[in-house]
Amino acid sequence: MARLANVFFCAAVTACLSILLTHATDHATQEMCAKRLAHGKRLGRRCIQYRLNDQPADEEVVVCPRKSHLIGSRVCKKACTQNSDCKGSKKKCVCDDVCGLTCLNPTFNTCERLRAPKYGSRLGKKLTVGSVMSFVCDTGYKLSGTAKRICQQDGTWSGSQPDCSPVDCGDPGHLWNGYIEGKKFTYSSVIKYMCFDGTKFDGLAMMATCEATGQWSFPLPRCMGSCTRPEILHAQLLLEEGRAAPISMDHGTSLTVQCSAGLVVSEPATPVCNNGTWSSLPICVQGGCDHRPKEISNGMALYRGTKYGDRVRYNCNAGYKLVGDTFLTCRNGRWEGTVPECKAVYCPHPGELTNGKVLLVGNIGKFEYRPYIRLPGQSEKIVYYCSTGYRLEGPSAATCINGMWSPDTRPKCVDNQHPMLPKTQELFTT
Ligand SMILES: *[C@@H]1O[C@H](CO)[C@@H](O)[C@H](O)[C@H]1NC(C)=O
Repeated sequence: MARLANVFFCAAVTACLSILLTHATDHATQEMCAKRLAHGKRLGRRCIQYRLNDQPADEEVVVCPRKSHLIGSRVCKKACTQNSDCKGSKKKCVCDDVCGLTCLNPTFNTCERLRAPKYGSRLGKKLTVGSVMSFVCDTGYKLSGTAKRICQQDGTWSGSQPDCSPVDCGDPGHLWNGYIEGKKFTYSSVIKYMCFDGTKFDGLAMMATCEATGQWSFPLPRCMGSCTRPEILHAQLLLEEGRAAPISMDHGTSLTVQCSAGLVVSEPATPVCNNGTWSSLPICVQGGCDHRPKEISNGMALYRGTKYGDRVRYNCNAGYKLVGDTFLTCRNGRWEGTVPECKAVYCPHPGELTNGKVLLVGNIGKFEYRPYIRLPGQSEKIVYYCSTGYRLEGPSAATCINGMWSPDTRPKCVDNQHPMLPKTQELFTT
């Protein structure tokens, strides 16, 4: 980690002023540096803390304290409050960063020569206090450590020696249905993207180089699986150009499904091979009916649809009887069965009424109903009358409903004079 260099600007009146100098080349800092250093000293491109024009130190005591909590790994020289505290004749009591007022040699220390990192170079030659030495790595290498080191008052360089290590693009990932040739993933390494046989390469390039930016020149491609010919009963499978489909087909192939005669595809689909799987697979089904079932008179056709297997049911109106098939089924494009007919149903002649007569109720009145007259149809009525001296026992009328008289009990005309003989006696009299 780069250590921040604390620089003090010392001026006659303002005493020590510290600013954090993180970027020695920072323009604003440079300017400030030049301005504030009227009574201080300036070295190279850096403002350095220095005893203000060799004036007595006591003026600064308060403003340049030793900041023990910030010292860290720094080794501080002897602390002082004034020049006379520093025994070595050449040393002076100066403000030394976090070390506070310290006895130092004002004729500057020099720092040791620094080597350039392997795969990199060093910029800057000066070894005097305040000099900056910077380091850059060759293309494809990245720097760790301190890129800019500053020769400090105590003769040591700030920060730590930098290192240049090759840029690593990293493992590009797993290539499904394929593999990657090449094991080195660092700068300028080349890898090959390989798809297994029977799969289709889907990508930008089959090779990639690890670039100085730490990126592969081409991303991981995709290897798309092939599809095997599907089994579709009663169908012929063709390729787009009309050729019969082979056992195995590449990713992206589309198929045409042709059903045998009388059959149709269940859905209007063209299966496409997508990475080993068909997008959809229709089946061959019996064709539907393209027309509705026939309507019939005096009845109706009830149906839901006209697809293969759908049924129609025929019903007749009241008074009509269905003759033919009640149900028809849609098969092979047509309604199978005989379209039925609704035939009117008539009531039979109810029989003669002894000692009475049967009358048919018509539009224009009642008239005697003889067996040779037309048969009555739905809802027609008959009424029963007894001759004089007889009385009707049973229903007096009946209605023709679906070919049957309702009620269907026949009345009798009994002698009005005499009570009915019991059955046993009847037997004796005959
Ligand atoms: C292709 O299929 C393989 C195997 O089924 C799967 O692992 C892979 O993720 C698929 N690739 C794509 C791009 O869908």
